[in-house]
Amino acid sequence: MKFNLKLVFSLIIVFFIYIFIYFNLNSTITVLKIENENKTKDLIPIAVVVCGINRVDESLVMIKSALIFNTENYLLNFVIIAEDQLHEVINERLKNFKTFKNFTHEILSLKFPQKNQEIWKKLFKPCASQRLFLPSLLPHVDSLIYVDCDVLFISSPHKLYNHFKSFNHDQISALALESENRNTGWYTRFARHPYFGLGLNSGVMLMNMTRMRKIKFEEKIEPIYEKWKNQLVWGDQDILNIYFHNNPNEVHLMKCEYNYRPDHCMYTSNCDLSEGSVKIVHGNRGYFHKEGKQRIFREIYMAIDEYKFNDDPCTNLIKVIEERVDEAEISNCNEMINKFLYIPKKTFCRHTNEIS
Ligand SMILES: *[C@@H]1O[C@H](CO)[C@@H](O)[C@H](O)[C@H]1NC(C)=O
Ligand SMILES: *[C@@H]1O[C@H](CO)[C@@H](O)[C@H](O)[C@H]1NC(C)=O
Ligand SMILES: *[C@@H]1O[C@H](CO)[C@@H](O)[C@H](O)[C@H]1NC(C)=O
Repeated sequence: MKFNLKLVFSLIIVFFIYIFIYFNLNSTITVLKIENENKTKDLIPIAVVVCGINRVDESLVMIKSALIFNTENYLLNFVIIAEDQLHEVINERLKNFKTFKNFTHEILSLKFPQKNQEIWKKLFKPCASQRLFLPSLLPHVDSLIYVDCDVLFISSPHKLYNHFKSFNHDQISALALESENRNTGWYTRFARHPYFGLGLNSGVMLMNMTRMRKIKFEEKIEPIYEKWKNQLVWGDQDILNIYFHNNPNEVHLMKCEYNYRPDHCMYTSNCDLSEGSVKIVHGNRGYFHKEGKQRIFREIYMAIDEYKFNDDPCTNLIKVIEERVDEAEISNCNEMINKFLYIPKKTFCRHTNEIS
């Protein structure tokens, strides 16, 4: 009897140990599952530098475009580097976006190297050169998409971000060319300093900042400035061109469709588009606000600005652009409308296409 009681007692203990291990293991597995589920989609940081109240609207329309075309629901983190007096207004307007879309954001103050601080601030445009110093300003960020304020996503930001996957071991950054044509390119005709290829445009840039910090990129920028300061016309973009001329193995070249500018269509169509489609629009030289020819740039900007998140993008965004460009004066860029709207339509108008 005594012996039996011992056995029963041991069995009970074994049973409880078993139950304990079983449930613990199970909950560990559940946690792992959730973590993995969340990790399947990358966090995509998108950085923009905002100086001057006039740039606030543009940068918010850029953010809106990224949110509209983020149809795969990647978690976007907008890193906004702005003059202190703009922080509040930007925060307020992003709060409004957050009632419709899930994303995170951080707003930071401008920060330039102590040495030559005033010069860096004023180089080319107010604070444009800030992008050269993002690696030290954002020590917590591995990699990001940098865009100028006058850039709009008309395809998923993830499509752009995916270029990181094709970087080789040396590459720290991805950019598109300033020009596709030696005879009409600005750098090939006018630059008085070295440049990469036919010249690079820095309006859309992928930056692997872990690598930039590792090779001490920022320290290499200062001597370039000292040496070439009297030859620089486009400020930090020229500095990047000189840098990548000296280190051509460190740049990953992107297609022009990821940084599509009026120059690509206004005279002749000179950007060879894969899938026949523009992915990212860059309305440089004020084209998002110009009423004249090549109106399509302005109409895309205006339609995204006016669009309301809950509305159907096919009717209230894409059709709006089509109608307005249709009414505008005929021009080379306007004629390209189907190249601009190919992905938006494929993304948002599939249903209507099937019917018609
Ligand atoms: C995964 O994401 C969900 C929804 O955003 C969140 O509630 C949950 O805490 C996340 N889990 C982990 C382990 O991060
Ligand atoms: C944000 O994400 C949460 C959790 O995934 C979800 O419940 C909520 O509906 C989302 N909000 C919007 C506006 O999409
Ligand atoms: C950036 O480079 C680091 C170091 O080589 C690498 O570990 C990291 O995965 C890269 N980031 C991306 C997004 O490719």
